[in-house]
Amino acid sequence: MSVTPHAGGGKITVPDLLQRKASAAGSPENSKKIVCLTAYDYPTARLLDEAGVDVILVGDSLAMVALGYDSTLPVTLDEMIHHARAVRRGTKHALLVADMPFGSYHSETAESLRNAVRFVKEASVEAVKVEGGERRLELIARLTEAEIPVMGHIGLTPQSVNAMGGYRVQGKTTDSAERLLRDATAVEAAGAFAVVLEAVPRELAAQITRELRIPTIGIGAGPDCDGQILVVHDMLGLTFDQTPKFARQYANLGEAISKAVRGYCDDVRSGAFPSDRESYHSGSSTKKDDPVKISIC
Ligand code: KIV
Repeated sequence: MSVTPHAGGGKITVPDLLQRKASAAGSPENSKKIVCLTAYDYPTARLLDEAGVDVILVGDSLAMVALGYDSTLPVTLDEMIHHARAVRRGTKHALLVADMPFGSYHSETAESLRNAVRFVKEASVEAVKVEGGERRLELIARLTEAEIPVMGHIGLTPQSVNAMGGYRVQGKTTDSAERLLRDATAVEAAGAFAVVLEAVPRELAAQITRELRIPTIGIGAGPDCDGQILVVHDMLGLTFDQTPKFARQYANLGEAISKAVRGYCDDVRSGAFPSDRESYHSGSSTKKDDPVKISIC
């Protein structure tokens, strides 16, 4: 059988990310940092991909920022797959990772594996992400054995909101820092190719990053991680509530959308839209029907 040994064409793969960590080891070179963002739909994925993002995560933050729930818990596997399929269509170069939603990997390992396989078969994702450290050892090992690359996620794990009693910075006490170090080591030992560190003190994230061979991807974990991830709605100013202090806002699309829509409302109500140029006219073509360009990409 003839197979292409390398994806090529700028396609980011799991081995590329591991190689980046290995080649950056000991050097303070920032150009090897792994740039990750979330996306939940086709146009966003395409814009992110074309802008050069390395990893696109179909995060279960979908539940909160795109579906309007107040936690990540309600989003279903079918909903995640539906959005992952749209993101897949817009993603050519970035590595595509999907979050396994709450409940899809919390019972039998065999069922969790079947759910992860659905992501690969139905949405062509290249990896899945699961929350939790030591207690996910067996699952991560099983998925990896089944050729499904796994991204771990430790620290503040939003699916544990009820168990944790809220969203809090993790690893601030000696005990919890030691637990997080054990979690990070377990995730690596089980075969994960990367691990997200969420809301962890910068010093602890730096230590974990030094100790692991797999890349650490920080969100609220300081600048010393091997990569960074943000929720795209936070960085584009598309959220309604206050964002966490680590979520730097690079644009205010919420304001831009409100302004544009207010302008449209005014124009329709004043009769300024549509204009004559924006209208079709009788007898303006020899053809029976003018072709209409509709808004598909
Ligand atoms: O769901 C998500 O968006 C995430 C990132 C914040 C890492 O898990």
